[in-house]
Amino acid sequence: MSRINFHLSGSIAAFKACEVISALIKQGHEVQPICTASALKFIGPATLEGLTGKPVLSDLFEPGRHMDHIRLVKWADLSIVCPATADLINKLAAGIADTATGALFLAHDFSKPWLIAPAMNPAMYGHPITQSSLAKLAALGVRVLATAKGIVACGDVGLGRLLEPSQLLTEITHALLKKSSAHPARRILVTAGGTREPIDGVRCITNLSTGATGAVIADELLARGHNVVYLHGEGAKTPSRFCECQTFGGFSDIDQKMREQLQRQSFDAVIHLAAVSDFSVDQIETAGQRFSPENFGKMPSTDAPILHLKKNFKIIDHLREYSQNKKIQIIGFKLTHSSDPAHQQQAIAKLQATSKVDLIVHNDASNIQGDQHMASLFQGTQLWAQSQTKTELAQALARFIEEKNGETL
Ligand SMILES: Cc1cc2nc3c(=O)[nH]c(=O)nc-3n(C[C@H](O)[C@H](O)[C@H](O)COP(=O)(O)O)c2cc1C
Repeated sequence: MSRINFHLSGSIAAFKACEVISALIKQGHEVQPICTASALKFIGPATLEGLTGKPVLSDLFEPGRHMDHIRLVKWADLSIVCPATADLINKLAAGIADTATGALFLAHDFSKPWLIAPAMNPAMYGHPITQSSLAKLAALGVRVLATAKGIVACGDVGLGRLLEPSQLLTEITHALLKKSSAHPARRILVTAGGTREPIDGVRCITNLSTGATGAVIADELLARGHNVVYLHGEGAKTPSRFCECQTFGGFSDIDQKMREQLQRQSFDAVIHLAAVSDFSVDQIETAGQRFSPENFGKMPSTDAPILHLKKNFKIIDHLREYSQNKKIQIIGFKLTHSSDPAHQQQAIAKLQATSKVDLIVHNDASNIQGDQHMASLFQGTQLWAQSQTKTELAQALARFIEEKNGETL
């Protein structure tokens, strides 16, 4: 059984934490409650001491507990902040150590899991400062849990509700199991959804990519404890778990954002399944005149225009060059729309020849429907795995990244 530092901060959802603590004790875990001063306005120390059999740590300067902020770091197998207020999240991200939780976090040993379960009003949750703090904490290796959508205590509706006790227990159990598993957390960039190539200020050329597969892949990686940055097209599906998300528009935008991400931090792998347009609009010809898309607010609907397209380069060919980590694992996708196996083989061979990728996922549009997603994963010309569903595909990709231990093939 495990030892858990259970941090509570000043949210109305603190009562749910008591149910989680009670269940953990029943499962045989040892739980040390640690409270901010505000948390103790919601839950009395007697309740927490009664549940855990341990006196609450709140005041770092309490006689006899002066070294608890170091001792408890070494003692615990897992730490969780639940509920985590906007205030505490922002303080932790800034490295402020004026609470017991803040001091313990600065002394935290990242080989052990630290979970954060946010609970707050939707406006506080959606605030850019809170979101950037959560993304910063996630990038450090903190496991930021999702929030539920619904009515919060103040009556507002949206994301920010604390997960239910049973979900929190599952996350804690999962993190404890993960801790004893062999795979360290990896940093992975996932791209998904389609580009929008502007024709003028209000029209675009796009494609039918929904981001559904990318969201399932990102969720699987997050569930396994990896750090994911999810770069997605406008309106594409996003993961249900928390991760850093960024939106892209057209070809040059996704190219620039991938370059920035890969240069800014060292990624172990990139899974590039965004549907990037092969062509962008170079000029629009209408009524005998030519315009660039960016210089045209809205072209008149009277004459049918001629669109002059320019060919885009393959971003996947440049990912290793963009990447700070030259040993990054590159996983590319090839979608075909043909039941002819010879045509499919040709398409895969072309990608293998031109792009220095570590794994190619081949899928055909005729075999994708809902969660059904037949795919063949090739390492060079060797078939490495096959999957029937999005979930199986996501699991195979996670395994590939975990097994290769960050080495290129
Ligand atoms: C009734 C009440 C409920 C609150 N609920 C929340 C909440 O759910 N989430 C949150 O971030 N802040 C909430 N707050 C505000 C925090 O308690 C406040 O920001 C406090 O300074 C947080 O301190 P702490 O982060 O040190 O615990 C609430 C305040 C009150 C009075």
